[in-house]
Amino acid sequence: MHAARALVAGNWKMHKTIAESTAFVRELLALEPDFDAIDAVIFPPFTALAAAGEALRGSLLGLGGQTMNDADSGAFTGEISPLMLLDCGAHWVILGHSERRASCGETDAAINRKVHAALRLGLTPIVAVGESAADHAAGRTHDHVVLQTSAAFDGVTPDDVARCVVAYEPIWAIGTGLSDSPAAANNVMAQIRGSVSGLERTRILYGGSVKPDNIGQFVAQPHIDGALVGGASLGAQSFADLIANARVNATR
Ligand code: PGA
Repeated sequence: MHAARALVAGNWKMHKTIAESTAFVRELLALEPDFDAIDAVIFPPFTALAAAGEALRGSLLGLGGQTMNDADSGAFTGEISPLMLLDCGAHWVILGHSERRASCGETDAAINRKVHAALRLGLTPIVAVGESAADHAAGRTHDHVVLQTSAAFDGVTPDDVARCVVAYEPIWAIGTGLSDSPAAANNVMAQIRGSVSGLERTRILYGGSVKPDNIGQFVAQPHIDGALVGGASLGAQSFADLIANARVNATR
């Protein structure tokens, strides 16, 4: 049986200044979301990470980076290390988001190195996998996501795999308003869960056009433990509604 405590992760992508990020945190905390029943984590851009970390200090709202390098330090211009994330108060990191795979050339091998680095330093990785529209149309969804998942966790012990989170995000559903159907996503996630030893104990999130009004249908599915949310995570009220609606339906 996998973990039932739902997780709502807000991936801000390249949005929000420092002032906007701290205002979001203040506004969200004022809405008093029920963090006792659910885990909620925001992923601001690097420039706002430290300020957001200050603003949420003492609360149960989590903080994470949108990516990282696998080295602790070194000659990697423009990169951010896992130690720098921890320095900002972040304990989570998204690894292998499809936008980074597509536009920054992140390979399965690089993502695997980052998973090892995150685990070594005590960061919780959210490993993102998902198929393109072409692979989806050609019936290659299963093969594609299972390959990506196995590659990401290559050489990771089952107990360490169990410390991670996986996000299944069909690329065609990201930012399009065309979310996958909860039942279809659940089927893919069952296949992901069975693909690597340890994943039967992890949380698997669905991502791709999740909104406050559909998150409940996703988390009501047996293999869906929460959501990785882009656009709808940018407003404090919307993020609070995501948390509230995930909490109601996640009970099983
Ligand atoms: P979206 O993005 O919710 O805007 O579709 C999800 C993601 O890319 O993580």
